[in-house]
Amino acid sequence: MSTQDKKPDHAAGSNAHQKIERNVGLLAILITIAVSFGGLAEIVPMMFQAEAIKPLPGIKPYPALQLAGRDIYVREGCYNCHSQMIRTLRFESERYGQYSLAGESVYDRPFQWGSKRTGPDLARVGGRYSDEWHREHLKDPRALVEQSNMPSFPWLAENKIDPAQLQSHMRALKRLGDPYTEADINNAPKDVAGKTELDAVVAYLQGLGRARAQNRANDAAAMKAGAQ
Ligand code: HEC
Repeated sequence: MSTQDKKPDHAAGSNAHQKIERNVGLLAILITIAVSFGGLAEIVPMMFQAEAIKPLPGIKPYPALQLAGRDIYVREGCYNCHSQMIRTLRFESERYGQYSLAGESVYDRPFQWGSKRTGPDLARVGGRYSDEWHREHLKDPRALVEQSNMPSFPWLAENKIDPAQLQSHMRALKRLGDPYTEADINNAPKDVAGKTELDAVVAYLQGLGRARAQNRANDAAAMKAGAQ
């Protein structure tokens, strides 16, 4: 018997392979199973990680006026050009501040992390400029930053906030587990009385990253006190 009559040993394996490759349905199912391992390994543990879904100290649901501002931020599509997530890279934290943590966004539904930066990240923009700067900038960005390609949003200064809509939004968030009290919801119309959409967006921007900055200041003070 010549050696050519003998089939190579890996023949059985390659037969199975051929079978799978010729059956598109089976191939698709097996690919889906293989690919979902990556997702399972990354996503499922996150769901059981208390830290990732627990608010950091000082992180509270948005006060009424800031919540209204957040809704306008989403409506105007600011997230198309601005991210709110500072990555754990040195050049990012040197430019924008301390990197973001999941526990900062627990009351953000939907979160505004974004993935596109035509403009700068806004996660820690609170307190970086005066209210007046933001008002002027939103009405006409080029009045302050000559080369800016950010659109103008002049109508924000003219539109008033609808208190009934804001209240129903707060109720919906409460149902989802945000710790708003009945008093918060009942007082919302008073909190936004006479305010324009521009007031709301500025309040929202000025609040971004502030709780985290306060935490870090507290930690630094505690460390200093401990060292003495
Ligand atoms: C088409 C892209 C685009 C859109 C949409 C956009 N921006 Fe901007 N934004 C920019 C660019 C570019 C800059 C940098 C130049 C400047 O300061 O104007 C900027 C700058 C800013 C800054 C200053 C940030 C800093 O750290 O200096 C703030 C605050 C801001 N935008 C808020 C907003 C808000 C709020 C909205 C939605 C109402 C919005 N932007 C929509 C492109 C955009």
